[in-house]
Amino acid sequence: MAILITGGAGYIGSHTCIELLNAGHEIVVADNYINSKPESLRRVNEITGKTFKVYRVDLMDELDLEKVFIENTIEAVIHFAGLKAVGESVQIPLIYYEANIISTLKLCNVMKKHHVKKLVFSSSATVYGVPQRIPISEDSALSAMNPYGRTKLMIEEILADLYGSDHDWSIALLRYFNPIGAHKSGLIGEEPIGMPNNLMPYITQVAIGKLKELNIYGNNYPTKDGTGVRDYIHVVDLAKGHLKALEKVTKIPGVDAFNLGTGKGYSVLEVVAAFEKASNVKIPYKIVSPRPGDIAVCYADPTKARIDLGWNAEKGIEEMCIDSWIWQSKNPNGYEAAFNEEDSRLVKTAGIF
Ligand code: UFG
Repeated sequence: MAILITGGAGYIGSHTCIELLNAGHEIVVADNYINSKPESLRRVNEITGKTFKVYRVDLMDELDLEKVFIENTIEAVIHFAGLKAVGESVQIPLIYYEANIISTLKLCNVMKKHHVKKLVFSSSATVYGVPQRIPISEDSALSAMNPYGRTKLMIEEILADLYGSDHDWSIALLRYFNPIGAHKSGLIGEEPIGMPNNLMPYITQVAIGKLKELNIYGNNYPTKDGTGVRDYIHVVDLAKGHLKALEKVTKIPGVDAFNLGTGKGYSVLEVVAAFEKASNVKIPYKIVSPRPGDIAVCYADPTKARIDLGWNAEKGIEEMCIDSWIWQSKNPNGYEAAFNEEDSRLVKTAGIF
C-alpha cells in the first residue's frame, strides 16, 4: 500500500516525502515539474536512502493519472500539486482555476473510481481573508481576496460536498500559515522561480548578494513596529503535520480543517533581525508602500491540530532562519547547478529514485 504525493517535488511536498519515508511509508510521487525539479526528489533519495516511484504526470491528464492508480496500490493521497503565486493568480485567473480546481476534480474522480477515499489537501490560511479575530481558529469566517485564495476556498467546499455525498471519504484540509526553513541537511529547500514573492526567500537572496536590498511593504500597520506580522512555521514541522493528518484520515471518515501554524506572530523587522543573528549577514532594507491585498496581522490558533491530530510545531524562528540560510548558501542557484539534460532524460525514462 502506497501514499500518492501529488506535487511531491515541490517545497513542502519534498519535505513531506522525507518524513513519510523516514516513518516507513511507501510513497509514489506524481509531479509535472512546472514549478519544481526532479533533482529535489533525487536528493530526497539521498537523504533517506530509500527508493520510491516517480511519475511525470500532469493531473489534467486523467489517463496518465489513472495509470498511476493502476500500476500501484494507492491507499491515500496527499495533494500538494497546484499553482501558488497570489500576484500571478490575479494576472492569469483562468489558468489558476484550471490548474488548481479542475485538476483536483480530476484527481478526485480517479480516486473515486479506484475506491481511494482518503485525502490530505494543501489548503492555506489565505481562506480566512481579512481575519475577524486573532489568533485565527478554524471556525472563523472564510473569504478569499484573490483568485489563488478562491481556488483554495472553492476546493475546500468541493471536498466538503464530496464527503456530504459519500460518507466513506475521509478528508483533511490543512491550512498552512507561512512555511519557511529547510531540511537540516541543506540539500532541499525552497526554490522560487524568478523574483521571490515571499519574505524569507527574498531575504536569503539579499544575503547571498543576488538581490540588492529588501523592500519592506509598509511600516504603518497597527503592529508592534508597524510592519506586517505573520505566523512563520518551519517546513519540517509542517511536513510532520501531514503525517499526523494522514493517520487521522486513515482512521476516521469525515472532512475537517486544521490550522498548521505555531500560534506566534513575528513582524517583518523581527524576522530580519532573527535572520541577521542566525546568518551573521546584514540585510539592507528600505521601507516602501504597503503591498496591495496584504493584511496587518495573521497568526494561527493551532489548538485543534494539537488536540485532534496530536501535532505541535516544535521549531522556533531561530532554527527556521538558520536552516533557510544553510539551504540558500549551499545552493546559491537552487537545484539549477545540479540539474542537467542527462538527469532529465534519466528521470523521464527510469522514473524511480
Ligand atoms: N514582505 C515584505 N517584503 C517582501 C515580501 C514580503 O515586506 O519582499 C512582508 C509582507 O508584506 C508580509 C510578510 O512579509 O507582511 C510576509 O509576506 P509573504 O509574501 O512571505 O507571505 P504572505 O503572508 O503575504 O502570504 C503567504 C503565502 C500565501 C498565502 C498567505 C496567507 O505566500 O500563499 O500567506 O496564508 F496565501
